[in-house]
Amino acid sequence: MSGAILNVADLQRAARRYLPRFAYRYLAGGAEDEHTLRGNRLAFNQWQFMPPVLRDASRRTLSIRLWQQELAAPLLIAPTGYNGMLRYQADLMLARSARAFGIPYIQSTVSTASLEEIAADGQGQHWFQLYVLRDRQVTSGLLQRAQAAGCDTLVLSVDAVHFGNRERDRRSYRRPMKLSLASLCDVALHPRWLWHTLRPAGMPGFGNLQPYLPAERQRGLSGAAYFAREMDAALNWQTLDWVRQCWPGKLLVKGILHPQDARQALDAGADGIVLSNHGGRQLDGSVAPISLLPAVRAACGPTATILIDSGFRRGTDVVKALALGANAVLIGRPLLYGVALAGQAGATQALRIFSEEIDRTLAQLGCSSVQELGPHLLRPVNER
Ligand code: FNR
Repeated sequence: MSGAILNVADLQRAARRYLPRFAYRYLAGGAEDEHTLRGNRLAFNQWQFMPPVLRDASRRTLSIRLWQQELAAPLLIAPTGYNGMLRYQADLMLARSARAFGIPYIQSTVSTASLEEIAADGQGQHWFQLYVLRDRQVTSGLLQRAQAAGCDTLVLSVDAVHFGNRERDRRSYRRPMKLSLASLCDVALHPRWLWHTLRPAGMPGFGNLQPYLPAERQRGLSGAAYFAREMDAALNWQTLDWVRQCWPGKLLVKGILHPQDARQALDAGADGIVLSNHGGRQLDGSVAPISLLPAVRAACGPTATILIDSGFRRGTDVVKALALGANAVLIGRPLLYGVALAGQAGATQALRIFSEEIDRTLAQLGCSSVQELGPHLLRPVNER
């Protein structure tokens, strides 16, 4: 990767050049007019730092504790599906990068690698993200496999039950799952991506769902179409109770925005929540998670575990969230830009950019650790 990559925006620009258009659109796009995608970035400007001076912050640590787990930085790799579209074995590379960094890797239900492949590669903080499928036997089978693979934390995603209308992505296809002629021509213009992504066996497999596929395949449905059809659109609070009963480990509910929902999820037995609008890929016009963080923290109380994602691109963004009451931050696209460009080294570069920026921000705020952050360091922009 070029030495000129100083920040996540540089990574994104390089990934845009490297990837064929259909893959970049899938990765970077949001729903409809992308107001929420843009709003996620703008929302961080609602708060400004009030840095105190003359505090000795010459020795610093980024590490945090989440329940019994120690994280080397307040970061997690967000669950993302179909990573094999970006690079061959991208999931393994992300998991390795997380392991080397000392942070959790959250594997998606629709990852290209299977739970077993990730587990066999080495022991790290391996979490599983669940989409509940209509077939509860398949769903509980996935949970058993996650446990057998050593996952101790489950992230139940509840915000993608009805698929977002991602028009940027849809423009690449002539009909669902069939690339348009223009997209196919464009693919041919990206030989480096082809070389690093496609294998003689053809397109990458379908990871966790592969064992349930063959019958479907015979009927001409691809794995992605099977998944879209099988996603349970009738998810409700009873489903959360069911998942809680099936899963003995830690359980986080991801995709919550409303403070009342956050409270209700905890009351239903969740161990924490992930405040998220799915990176602006679901309901366009929905609020940026960071804007709701103070209200969600107030609704959940001081000891609840609150993770957050959507739009984090700078260490200062992460520090603002921690100061407003988040325990840690999930990073989505920046890791994918990195892994697409340069595999594990690229993912690690993205993590390094974040951790260096967080460290520098802590220093400039006179803090020796994440635990010293608080709302006293921030001022809402329109406060007089
Ligand atoms: C996602 N996200 C996601 N979430 C989830 O729970 N399961 C999944 O399979 C996916 N897949 C997925 C694919 C791609 C390409 C992206 C960009 C995102 C959402 C993800 O976990 C996270 O919430 C957002 O990516 C966070 O926003 P940023 O950091 O990408 O802005």
